[in-house]
Amino acid sequence: MPQSPQNIMITGGAGFIGSHVVRLFVNKYPESKIVNVDKLTYAGNLNNLKDIENKPNYKFIKADIADLDKMREIIRENDITGIIHLAAESHVDRSIKDPFTFARTNVMGTLALLQAAKEYWDTFADKYDGKLFYHISTDEVYGALEITNPEGVKAPFTTKASADDHMAFGVEFFTETTKYDPHSPYSASKASSDHFVRAYHDTYDLPTIVTNCSNNYGPYQFPEKLIPLFINNILQGRNLPVYGKGENVRDWLFVEDHARAIDLIFHEGKPGDTYNIGGFNEWKNIELIKVLIKTVDKLTGKPEGTSDHLITYVTDRLGHDMRYAIDSRKLQEELGWEPSLQFEEGIEKTVKWYLDNKDWVDNVTSGDYEKYYDKMYSNR
Ligand code: NAD
Ligand code: DAU
Repeated sequence: MPQSPQNIMITGGAGFIGSHVVRLFVNKYPESKIVNVDKLTYAGNLNNLKDIENKPNYKFIKADIADLDKMREIIRENDITGIIHLAAESHVDRSIKDPFTFARTNVMGTLALLQAAKEYWDTFADKYDGKLFYHISTDEVYGALEITNPEGVKAPFTTKASADDHMAFGVEFFTETTKYDPHSPYSASKASSDHFVRAYHDTYDLPTIVTNCSNNYGPYQFPEKLIPLFINNILQGRNLPVYGKGENVRDWLFVEDHARAIDLIFHEGKPGDTYNIGGFNEWKNIELIKVLIKTVDKLTGKPEGTSDHLITYVTDRLGHDMRYAIDSRKLQEELGWEPSLQFEEGIEKTVKWYLDNKDWVDNVTSGDYEKYYDKMYSNR
């Protein structure tokens, strides 16, 4: 189990979830050195970390995780003893258009990091004691779930019911032992990277942990993902492109709750183990979109229903997974984690953040983003 203080490398720390993890670790562990390694792709933005960039225990290095020599150098020169690996290509729609970039970063990048960590930690007399390679993965590797149980009881369950109440419905959830069945190039690349992480554990005894989390939302999420894209579009009076019939179900978790889970698992998780992370918070896309519209209209002082007309049903995503739903009871029972926010609260907090940070949105949605946006949605 890694003890603080130590030298922790966080990859993808300039992205959405990574920036929340970096902020939490830099503030919570002032004696530890936090090294953020990020290539700064379109999704990476150092403005996400303005509030901590001058802290003495923080260092940023611009690098590509698929560059093995560079990873060796960074790990050696910074005497890295813990790695939290979030860097990835993360958007399913982009993976459908360009699978190769996903294989390169998500598979080869993860492999390069594993190898570089192993080589450096092999030089220690006590080898892997106190070291940890923690890989952040997704629920999408498990495939897709049905909406109904055999008796026809329907998910989603957006109630505030307990985990056991959810199970009592008899509808399937993803557990840590669910067989991998990825469908998109994104989830196939994440599944492959998970397998490499476990292979380094099983073959070389490298201390690794994998966590599979459900959909995150919150501040600093790049506005190509459903929630920030739709908040931004509602604010601009742009159409809201709902894929298919809007009936797909996702399980939503506030990003700071994910970051807290990562902290807990990094310090108290069992090497070799897998933990699922999710808040038992399933929403059908169209229902979630209605909550979003209502919240944005309310917070911008518009009468209820003003933006409803923006909903536009468009061609479905290729291979669109119907439902994701995480069973996170292992994490809750073994390590005592639980989500801190109810969904409506988290959505309100998120919408307020986007309203208060229009400069951030303008900054990331200028230039190439406009071209990307037009290409993605003009033909729908
Ligand atoms: P993101 O796209 O917002 O950020 C990814 C970061 O990785 C960016 O800062 C980018 O610059 C960096 N990056 C990309 N390629 C790189 C490379 N070759 N070398 C170094 N850095 C590189 O992603 P996110 O939504 O914050 O997701 C972070 C991680 O969490 C990913 O591994 C993703 O698969 C996983 N995850 C995300 C969610 C979610 O809902 N967003 C849910 C579960 C798991
Ligand atoms: O489940 C975890 C995963 O969640 C992460 O691993 C991924 O990195 C993350 O991007 C997310 O994947 P999804 O594909 O579920 O998220 P996205 O926000 O792209 O889409 C959420 C749902 O909304 C999905 O059913 C597709 C739908 N959608 C999305 C967009 C962008 C639309 O209907 N219209 C849209 O314009």
